[in-house]
Amino acid sequence: MSAVSLSLDVPEPEAERVEALLWDAGATGLEIRDREAPPMPGVRGPSPGEAIVVAWFEARAPAEAALEDVKAWVPEVRALLEEAPETDWSTAWRARIRSTRVGRLWVGPPWETAPAGTVALTIEPKMAFGTGDHPTTALCLAAVEAFCSAHPGASVLDVGTGTGVLALMARKLGAIRVVGVDNDPMSVTLAQENAALNGIGGVELSGATLDAIDGRFDLVLANILANTLVELAPALVQHTRVRLVLAGVLIHQGDEVREAFERAGAVSDGGDRAGDWVRLDFRVS
Ligand SMILES: C[S@@+](CC[C@H](N)C(=O)[O-])C[C@H]1O[C@@H](n2cnc3c(N)ncnc32)[C@H](O)[C@@H]1O
Repeated sequence: MSAVSLSLDVPEPEAERVEALLWDAGATGLEIRDREAPPMPGVRGPSPGEAIVVAWFEARAPAEAALEDVKAWVPEVRALLEEAPETDWSTAWRARIRSTRVGRLWVGPPWETAPAGTVALTIEPKMAFGTGDHPTTALCLAAVEAFCSAHPGASVLDVGTGTGVLALMARKLGAIRVVGVDNDPMSVTLAQENAALNGIGGVELSGATLDAIDGRFDLVLANILANTLVELAPALVQHTRVRLVLAGVLIHQGDEVREAFERAGAVSDGGDRAGDWVRLDFRVS
């Protein structure tokens, strides 16, 4: 089967929103070329003030639909839709993965070496979200580090675990009971592979739904999109004993998501921001 690549030249400030929109539209992989991530030699780079966002889709129809969505948002977009052999996108995607440093935490691909003194997690970039370099993941990693350092032996639930990055890092930081779930079977498989790659045992990774998970957890993490978070609000609050951390929320969605969780009984307790994304923290007692 061949894949389709959609290359979009957009004003740089729009790149993150376009990226979110493309994930929403079913992209299976994404690459951004901008000032922070200049292109590999021989690959076309962005014009000044612009970024190039390349998205891969399994078929032409969702790529065309995604382009219409982007045009509605960014009318000045310049787009190129091309057939791409499936192997191409995975190679390109892998080649562009960067390691991430958050406090003393390091997350990176197998071909990079972690700096000495870091708590390091190796994530094999494949078709699951959570290689560490997305702002929403980085925001959550900071919350995991702060909470697990202050609460040795905590229990942690990671809803929408993707590659398992947050759950596995929580375990590395000393969490005792760690559960990671994802409704995408491919992500669950890859999270399990990443646990083995890092020699981490004792993390329960599965496709379980929240109603099938017993008990409450000291820390609950959910880096999912805003509409899903709102749907899951009561169940997420019910599973939290101390702290609930939400990400995957764009700035303009923050109030709506916060209010949904306050209605479900959580108490807003600050958060953080990176680019267009916010992290929302709550206390639950
Ligand atoms: C943005 S990724 C986050 C991955 C990783 N936790 C991180 O922070 O990088 C969101 C993940 O949530 C999963 N997901 C979406 N809706 C879900 C749901 N209702 N229940 C469980 N997982 C869900 C997706 O399959 C995806 O892997």
